[in-house]
This record gives sequence, structure tokens and C-alpha cells, in this order.
Amino acid sequence: MNFIKHQDNGKTNGNTKLKVASLIYGCGGMDLGIQGDFNFLNKHFGALPFEVVYAVDNDAYATKIYNNNFSHKCELKDVRDIVPSEVPDHDILLGGFPCQSFSISAQNPPRLGFKDDRGKLFFEMVNVLKEKKPRFFIGENVKGLLSANKGKAFPMIVKEFEKAGYYIHHKLLNASEFGVPQKRERVFIVGFRDFEDYFNFRFPQPSTLNGSKIKLKQVIDKKANKDEKWFFSQRAVDGMLRVREKMNKGRVQDLNQPCNTISSHLAKVSLNGTDPVLMVDERYRRLTPREASSIQSFPESFNLDIVSENRQYKAIGNAVPPVLMWHVANALTNNLLTDKQQEINETKLELSEL
Ligand SMILES: C[S@@+](CC[C@H](N)C(=O)[O-])C[C@H]1O[C@@H](n2cnc3c(N)ncnc32)[C@H](O)[C@@H]1O
Repeated sequence: MNFIKHQDNGKTNGNTKLKVASLIYGCGGMDLGIQGDFNFLNKHFGALPFEVVYAVDNDAYATKIYNNNFSHKCELKDVRDIVPSEVPDHDILLGGFPCQSFSISAQNPPRLGFKDDRGKLFFEMVNVLKEKKPRFFIGENVKGLLSANKGKAFPMIVKEFEKAGYYIHHKLLNASEFGVPQKRERVFIVGFRDFEDYFNFRFPQPSTLNGSKIKLKQVIDKKANKDEKWFFSQRAVDGMLRVREKMNKGRVQDLNQPCNTISSHLAKVSLNGTDPVLMVDERYRRLTPREASSIQSFPESFNLDIVSENRQYKAIGNAVPPVLMWHVANALTNNLLTDKQQEINETKLELSEL
């Protein structure tokens, strides 16, 4: 393995890779995306100059899936037990943190607090940034983060990152515009320790728009249409039909469009929920875990079978789509190209001074 030396100030040279620490990795969507070198729908997403060297999550089942698919191993641990100074040196910190749990306390001036324990995870990320000062960080969150607490929480979250010493870009990205067969909208927050990096960064431009979006039918497993196991019972269908008019439920997907957003709730999918379902020969069927993982853009080689189907749905539904993450991480590599250009310029300068 090639690690950068920290004196390098987080700049790449030759074949070295930037070190990544991943808090709350789930089954590893962000981690797979940032490392690259995987296939999805006959497309290769090339290796990126990033290498995960530290990963922490407290879900034993997601961890099992993760360790089954990556050569490095992750730690099963509560992030609140992390001592920031003990986190290995790294250049990029990754993390998602729950958004529902923020509250704005009524002090003057108002401050960001948390309604439950999950809100603390955000502060764990900030604490690691303050202590370790990596060159970049990437956070991912639900669209609702932008409007949480009547729009007041997000600017405060940004302020906390700024107080930790970071310049912030953020953008709402729709996975379906980046080659993922799902209309998943997520906020990406990218932080930069150095102003020059902040100045040079651009979010990726959509690569699949309108007609070129990947359709759900491209990831449907036709074999599952023949397996009774995946179909809802007549009782479930009757129950749903009784309330359907009132509740606008029974979310049958259009196979010629990207799928609606899937969530960890797929483990408990019911026809009375808002979860995406399929209609096959006028019968309702659920998505298989493999279909769900393809809707999230995990490669076929990503092995889920090590845990029960319910645990697979949960881990996959929680994940960041690796292809979307690959595009965001790839945009960061432009900053690294700028490093290379700077090295060339410095060498030229040295030569001209001789
Ligand atoms: C939305 S998922 C993360 C997705 C992941 N970042 C990815 O790239 O696919 C949320 C994760 O937070 C983890 N989590 C929640 N509370 C935690 C805690 N206190 N310590 C560590 N992990 C926690 C859950 O186990 C779950 O895997």
C-alpha cells in the first residue's frame, strides 16, 4: 500500500494516494465511490487516488457486509467513543450524520443543539476535523437538511464547520443525473482547509439528463418475476386497495424511469407505505435485495449474502450510491491536478533560477 507522508501537506505526487477516514460508513457506498475501480452497468468507474485507511460504524451487520467487500477492515464502534487524537492521520474525512435530530436552542444568539443522541454524531465529525485538520472533508445528507428547523439549522451547521477551520461548498445532487437508476436527492457538503482548494473546486456536472437517464428496467432481475417469494399476498393487496384512494399509496414504479428513492425501510416494505414496488403481470412484487443494490449503483460483484435479507435491505437503503460518490470524489481530483501543475511550475522556476 502506498500512503502519503503527512509532511506532504496532503498533496499527491507520483503514485501516492490520499488517505481517507470514514465515519459512519454503513456498508460502504461512499468508501467504494471514493476509491473507485468498480463496474456498474457495463461501465468502469476508474480507480481514484484515494485510499480508505480508517472506518468506523456501530452496525454489526453493515460492518459484516463492508468487511466482506473491502480489503481493509473497519472498526465496529460508536463514533461517540472516538478520541479524535487517536484517529490516524488522514487527508479526507467522510461522514453522514442524521438530520432530524438538530434543534435550534433559544439562546441569544441561537445555537445549534441536538434533540437526541444522533445529533451528536455531527459534533463528533467536527471534533475530528478540529483535531486532525485533514485537507478535505465530504459530508452527505438528506435533502431535508436544507430546510430543517425552518431553514435555520443548515447555516448553523455550515458555521460549525467554518469554526473548525473549513471553507464550505454544498450542493443538492440528484443521483439519476449521474448514471444511477434512482431519483435520490442528497446534499453533499465539501469542506476545504485551504482557500486555494476551495477556490479551485467545482461540483460535477450532471452526466445523464432526461433521455439518457438509466431506467429501472435496466436493473430488474427477470428471474425474480418467476419466484412467488417476492410477490405480495392477496391479503396485503386487498388491504392496500381499501385505503388506496384516500392515501395515494401502492407506489408502483414506471420501469422506463429511474426508481423513486429507496430507504432502509425496504426491510419492512408494505403496500401501505410509500416504498417503491413493482407491478408484474398485474401483481405487486417487492424489489429483491440485489435489485435494491443495483438501484443504488453497487456493482454486481458487491457481495451482500453474508447477512439476512432484511439486514441487506437496511444496509443498502441507507447507503450513498457509489456511482454518485465517485463523481463527487472525481471532481476533487481536479484539485490534485492543480497540485501537479504547481509542482511542474515550481520545478520550472527552480530550473530557470539555476
Ligand atoms: C446513512 S448510513 C451511512 C451511509 C454511508 N455513509 C455510506 O456511504 O453508504 C448511517 C449509518 O450511521 C451508523 N450510525 C448511527 N449511529 C452511529 C453511531 N453512534 N456510531 C457509529 N455509527 C453510527 C448506522 O449504523 C448506519 O450505518
